[in-house]
Amino acid sequence: MWLKSCSIFVCLLVLTCAQKTCDQVNTTCSCHMVSLGGLSTKLDLSCPSDRQDHALFTYLDQKVEVICKQTTFSEDGFKLVPIHPRPTLNFLPNLNETYLKSYKIRECPLTDDSFDTVWHPMGVDNLEALVIENTAFPKNKLEDYYFHAISNHLVNLSLLGVQLEEIDKEVFALMKNLETLDINQNRLTISEHQFSHLTNLLDLRLHNNLIEFIPSTAFKGLKKLVVLHLWSNLITSLNPDTFSDLISVNSLELSDNKLEYLPEDIFANMKLLRLLNLGRNDISKIPPRLFANNRFLEKVRIENMKGITSLPDGFFSNYTYLEEVKLMNCSLNNLSEDLFRNSHALRIIHLQYNDIDSLPTFIFEGLKNVVELKLNGNKIKELSGNLFKDLVNLEILNLGENRIKIVPANMLTGCKHLIELHLNNNDIDSLALNTLYGLDELTTINLSFNNIDFE
Ligand SMILES: *[C@@H]1O[C@H](CO)[C@@H](O)[C@H](O)[C@H]1NC(C)=O
Ligand SMILES: *[C@@H]1O[C@H](CO)[C@@H](O)[C@H](O)[C@H]1NC(C)=O
Ligand SMILES: *[C@@H]1O[C@H](CO)[C@@H](O)[C@H](O)[C@H]1NC(C)=O
Ligand SMILES: *[C@@H]1O[C@H](CO)[C@@H](O)[C@H](O)[C@H]1NC(C)=O
Ligand SMILES: *[C@@H]1O[C@H](CO)[C@@H](O)[C@H](O)[C@H]1NC(C)=O
Ligand SMILES: *[C@@H]1O[C@H](CO)[C@@H](O)[C@H](O)[C@H]1NC(C)=O
Ligand SMILES: *[C@@H]1O[C@H](CO)[C@@H](O)[C@H](O)[C@H]1NC(C)=O
Repeated sequence: MWLKSCSIFVCLLVLTCAQKTCDQVNTTCSCHMVSLGGLSTKLDLSCPSDRQDHALFTYLDQKVEVICKQTTFSEDGFKLVPIHPRPTLNFLPNLNETYLKSYKIRECPLTDDSFDTVWHPMGVDNLEALVIENTAFPKNKLEDYYFHAISNHLVNLSLLGVQLEEIDKEVFALMKNLETLDINQNRLTISEHQFSHLTNLLDLRLHNNLIEFIPSTAFKGLKKLVVLHLWSNLITSLNPDTFSDLISVNSLELSDNKLEYLPEDIFANMKLLRLLNLGRNDISKIPPRLFANNRFLEKVRIENMKGITSLPDGFFSNYTYLEEVKLMNCSLNNLSEDLFRNSHALRIIHLQYNDIDSLPTFIFEGLKNVVELKLNGNKIKELSGNLFKDLVNLEILNLGENRIKIVPANMLTGCKHLIELHLNNNDIDSLALNTLYGLDELTTINLSFNNIDFE
């Protein structure tokens, strides 16, 4: 074999400092200049211009991106071997001339040394955004000293897929200006007061970790927080006051956890909550006053929970801004007539794949903005002729996979804008022609798998 083992070292650096040109770059690298239009010029450097050791740099606006990779070729083919980013810095010409604002490193091994010790020569002291991606922190722990010198100015910090199990809570003590913190895809657990120093935080993403328990002090003081993602963890229970300081949150993602119950006042202080996802938990009972204080709810998902057989009466009623309610794939069997009463902003209602056998005649009364209603995959036998009469803007109606025998002839007279009607997989044996009278916009009607004789 002519090339028994060869090592290709690839380091991609995207560095940006104002309008540089290739001839201003002091380097042994080969340089290519690309104009991005306007004032932006991007410089790509291959360093050194040698086939086997190779680095690519791009310059644009005080931003650097480094991808550290060493590709080793052997008889088994190509294999990626991480390399230490430090040597790659030697390729970077005049790094010091601009203080960096934004810095991203991917697949670069990290050492025990603090971040600023390693990166200080690059001018990281005023860093505002830092992304560390696809690598591992030594001992899977983020120690208190690590970001010490760069903490002051940081606004955005992302530590993605870096195998973190633990973060010393002092790490955040100096990050008074931090607004977004993304630590998704790690193996993190949360300790007492973990985030309580971050009083300016707006956006906190902790999804895809191994969080089982959230101490009730963890989010204390986060009064400005707007977005909180906790999906895909192992959370089994929540203390009633875990979220009590989160008065500004408008988006909360709790899906894909192991929650078995919810304290009735868990969301009581989240008066601005608009988007809530509770799907894929093990909850079986929804407390009647769970959303009593959340008057601004817009979108709610309570899906894929087979333990839920009913909802409290009028549970979604009187919500002025409620647009979407997704209740797919639970075990709902009886719905109260006032479930959605007076929630006139509703546009999307998903009730498919439940155990509903009948629908109260006035359950959709007054919901003139609904465009999509899914009721397929239930056990509905009978439909009242008045059930959909107020749904004057309905475009998609799915009643497939039920046990419907008769479609009342007047059932769709109000639904002038219906585009899709799904009645497949039912027991319908005849459909009166005038059922579809006046539905000028109808493009799809599915009647397959019924007993209709079209002779
Ligand atoms: C590049 O920079 C080094 C140190 O700053 C300097 O000694 C050298 O002369 C420069 N080379 C060129 C080609 O400008
Ligand atoms: C980087 O900049 C600092 C401050 O301007 C200066 O003290 C230091 O000597 C510079 N380092 C190099 C390697 O040029
Ligand atoms: C920080 O993140 C916000 C929101 O994603 C973004 O708008 C802003 O430009 C970021 N700041 C920096 C310095 O990258
Ligand atoms: C319904 O939920 C169960 C778990 O409760 C899940 O296994 C199944 O895939 C879901 N079905 C659909 C159609 O999403
Ligand atoms: C909704 O508002 C009406 C009128 O204010 C009230 O009578 C009814 O009890 C309310 N329903 C719920 C479930 O809060
Ligand atoms: C639904 O069923 C539950 C339990 O079987 C019952 O407590 C509740 O009153 C029923 N709701 C309606 C609207 O029938
Ligand atoms: C109609 O329903 C059948 C049975 O579920 C399905 O296989 C088919 O794709 C549907 N057709 C349309 C146009 O949706």
